[in-house]
Amino acid sequence: MSKIRSVVRGVGGYLPAHTLTNADLAKKVDTSDEWIVQRTGIRERHIAADGEKTSDLGLAAARAALKNAGIGADAIDLIVLATSTPDQTFPATAVTIQDGLGITRGAAFDMQAVCSGFVFALATADQFLRSGDFKCALVIGAETFSRILDWSDRGTCVLFGDGAGAVVLEASSDSGERGVLTTKLRSDGRHRAKLYVDGGPSSTGTVGHLRMEGREVFRHAIGMITDVIEDAFAVTGYNASDVDWFVPHQANKRIIDGSAHKLGIAAEKIVTTVDRHGNTSAASIPLALSVASEDGRIKKGDLVLLEAMGGGFTWGSALIRW
Ligand code: ACO
Repeated sequence: MSKIRSVVRGVGGYLPAHTLTNADLAKKVDTSDEWIVQRTGIRERHIAADGEKTSDLGLAAARAALKNAGIGADAIDLIVLATSTPDQTFPATAVTIQDGLGITRGAAFDMQAVCSGFVFALATADQFLRSGDFKCALVIGAETFSRILDWSDRGTCVLFGDGAGAVVLEASSDSGERGVLTTKLRSDGRHRAKLYVDGGPSSTGTVGHLRMEGREVFRHAIGMITDVIEDAFAVTGYNASDVDWFVPHQANKRIIDGSAHKLGIAAEKIVTTVDRHGNTSAASIPLALSVASEDGRIKKGDLVLLEAMGGGFTWGSALIRW
């Protein structure tokens, strides 16, 4: 019997209706469109409406991905939701999405690896599908970072946005080379105080606000990202010139372009949404995948390279034959 692979059947995204531009932000804090665009490439981001929760965003993205896949919710037996902004401390926001889809079988749980969450969730779902334990997974990244920002801190509030993206992955043993080819995950908790939230159930009993040493994050990002991509190339035998689409975590245009440059990935192969979405943490990669799939760039058979780095620090890569 040929090898089981986790094949991408569909992808979908959801963005809250309200858009917050750099000019809007300049009315709240001492910043400017010029500063934000020059340092990050961000021009605008979407913000969830009052009462609109992470589960609402994730559910909308999941429905869009199922529609795109042409697969009914009844086929799903695994939901892995990457989020750092759950609806509640518990239960997992994934079970709210599961219930919203009318699914009562299989398993649904959350995964917490901050901006690397989607890559960690994808790797987890891939392992379960390849083991034969589950057959069809929804891998979702959904975030409402607007709820954990300190809106008076110009160093962080300009960077993030809300959104969700989802991918339907199905176990298949007859799809040739299509599917997730490899995933590489890393963490190093020595860096945990460089990007964190200053609250939590067992420490302060509050939700807290995001705090970041931006320069420190920047200093480590490109090296970590490129290391883990080189690992993915080493185990698969592919290299930068084989990649059709590079879909990085959308933190910052300078980090994205710097990583691509160091790896020798051509600029026209980079999918960039950070200008319109800001950094949506775990949602940024599946959102970018949905944009590039919807506009016809990513097609069946393409070699797609994903990477992310974020709080922890955590970082990871994935190589997928679409
Ligand atoms: N508008 C105007 N001025 C600002 C703003 C702002 N929004 N934010 C900070 N400044 C000021 C600072 O106060 C400082 O002023 P000072 O010189 O008078 O003290 C000056 O700009 C320079 O501040 P730095 O923090 O040194 O600015 P830097 O050039 O490092 O850019 C940035 C900051 C954009 C955050 C950069 O460090 C960065 O991109 N870091 C990566 C962080 C990131 O992407 N995090 C996302 C989460 S992690 C992830 O997803 C990978």
